[in-house]
Amino acid sequence: MKVAVSGTSGLIGSSLVSFLSKKDITVSKILHEDLINNEIAWKPEKGDWDSAFTDGIDGIVHLAGENIAAGKWTKEKKEKIRSSRIEGTKRLCEHVLKLSSPPSVFICASAVGFYGDRGAEILNEDSSRGSGFLSDVCIGWEGATNTISNAGIRVVNVRFGMVLSNAGGALAKMLTPFKMGMGGKIGSGKQYMSWVAIDDVTRAIYHALITDSLKGPVNVTSPNPVTNKEFTKTLGRVLKRPTIMPMPAIGARLAFGEMANELLLASTRVEPKKLLDAGYHFQYPELEDALKHILNAV
Ligand SMILES: NC(=O)c1ccc[n+]([C@@H]2O[C@H](COP(=O)([O-])OP(=O)(O)OC[C@H]3O[C@@H](n4cnc5c(N)ncnc54)[C@H](OP(=O)(O)O)[C@@H]3O)[C@@H](O)[C@H]2O)c1
Repeated sequence: MKVAVSGTSGLIGSSLVSFLSKKDITVSKILHEDLINNEIAWKPEKGDWDSAFTDGIDGIVHLAGENIAAGKWTKEKKEKIRSSRIEGTKRLCEHVLKLSSPPSVFICASAVGFYGDRGAEILNEDSSRGSGFLSDVCIGWEGATNTISNAGIRVVNVRFGMVLSNAGGALAKMLTPFKMGMGGKIGSGKQYMSWVAIDDVTRAIYHALITDSLKGPVNVTSPNPVTNKEFTKTLGRVLKRPTIMPMPAIGARLAFGEMANELLLASTRVEPKKLLDAGYHFQYPELEDALKHILNAV
């Protein structure tokens, strides 16, 4: 099987490339920067493509997009977050439609931000969209793949939850304060966090690649989302550190601006219904086991 992957230098992409390579899958990298070696080049701003892309690709995993959590959400940053995903995906799909032998499956990243801030409501793929910037981005991002699903290509919009890894992302950011004993709940701590271990992210993407029945939105989150308070306590327990330094909501808003409302204070309790129905078996369904494995604290 030959699979082209975008966003390969990122948290999920780098892990996915090494996972797929172990499965004897040939991976071509779609780069958002200039052509490196003989890998496929993609310049989303110009829509340029290297001809190597036409070489009989069986599937595409499209992960690329401006990093959401690095830097404040200024007007410019928000536009980059939006256009790198929506316009970038549109261009990639336009290119796919021109291929003489298009891939049979297109996995496109999305996020549980689709559902917005929903308190304790249990959300699955049939739940309605939320409101807010990230929800709008996800709607446009998923909608950008309609052209190729209408053309008969199987599209899976993988709605990732908060990916836990020791290599970067949200957990890596939390580690320093928590290790110093300065960790604590954020705001009321009642907001739900839909987390997923990186090992389950790569395995779920592979499952989506090879499972013909999976299509449309698919939540990639553990079956056991927890409140921020539970998350805080569990991380403290695994690290053997106290967690008595709460960050009030107002402090989070002052430090992180609008991003705090949508990423830190919003409550999203998501269940991975379609993955479970399609027979996916989670390697790390429980938070404590996932954290012990990721932080090598067994
Ligand atoms: N990690 C999470 O917790 C999480 C949760 C929900 C959704 N997601 C989504 O899943 C996707 C992958 O996540 P990730 O954590 O691996 O992201 P990441 O670490 O930020 O990596 C994204 C990759 O996209 C490419 N990229 C960076 N800036 C870009 C730009 N302006 N335009 C186009 N491409 C750009 C880069 O890859 P190259 O240099 O190789 O091109 C980068 O390594 C992202 O779209 C993210 O929004 C992630």
